[in-house]
Amino acid sequence: MKGVILAGGTGSRLYPLTKVTNKHLLPVYDKPMIYYPLQTLVSAGIKDIMIVSGRGHAGHFLELLGSGSELGVHFTFEIQEEAGGIAQALSFAEDFVDGDNVTVVLGDNIFQDNIKEDVSAFSSGAKIFLKEVTDAQRFGVAELEGTKVIGIEEKPKNPKSNLAVTGLYIYDCEVFDAIKNLRPSGRGELEITDVNNYYINKDVMTYKVLDGFWSDAGTFESLFRASELVRKLLEKMAEK
Ligand code: G1P
Repeated sequence: MKGVILAGGTGSRLYPLTKVTNKHLLPVYDKPMIYYPLQTLVSAGIKDIMIVSGRGHAGHFLELLGSGSELGVHFTFEIQEEAGGIAQALSFAEDFVDGDNVTVVLGDNIFQDNIKEDVSAFSSGAKIFLKEVTDAQRFGVAELEGTKVIGIEEKPKNPKSNLAVTGLYIYDCEVFDAIKNLRPSGRGELEITDVNNYYINKDVMTYKVLDGFWSDAGTFESLFRASELVRKLLEKMAEK
């Protein structure tokens, strides 16, 4: 299993915080944002990790993370030149993944759950991780029928459920063929939701609803909330 952290985008929603560094290096309570998705991969036992970043302050990732040896992992870096979407950023990892399976995490997503078992048990197709939220229209939203996901809508005005599709995905290497056949969405990007719907239409998509906290951190509000959640979690751990 390979790991990919998608840390592209210009961070325009967090300007001027992102004027002199990359969004994914901003603090979430006590650590740079990217440490959290990185920890999600490392604690799942993944050791070979590619980071796809945008051009803005990309050198800062190298300065912060180095080769990965401190964490006992190995990093590969890739640059997404334009804002072409999450699925486009993932397409740059094709040679790196080299026919293996791949766990993909968005660089601004913070998870409490450990997905080690999901990663070990994965063989083929795709798996997504859902979380109950109160503001589903901000995310990709899953529609369930019985025990199946039958479709995902990206930022729907009238969400069909309160289950957000979090920025954590496991794919087999067919994901790269799926991306090659995508067309840009209304916002001119290759959407990860279209990749997920490709697997749903092939009837090979599985899912899990997460128990622990989850937050994105790409806006002032969500960045602030993510810091609060991490702080609360650390407080709880200190009480034990
Ligand atoms: C992206 C995905 C969306 C997902 C979200 C999770 O949205 O397109 O499906 O729910 O990440 O953070 P973005 O935040 O890039 O608009």
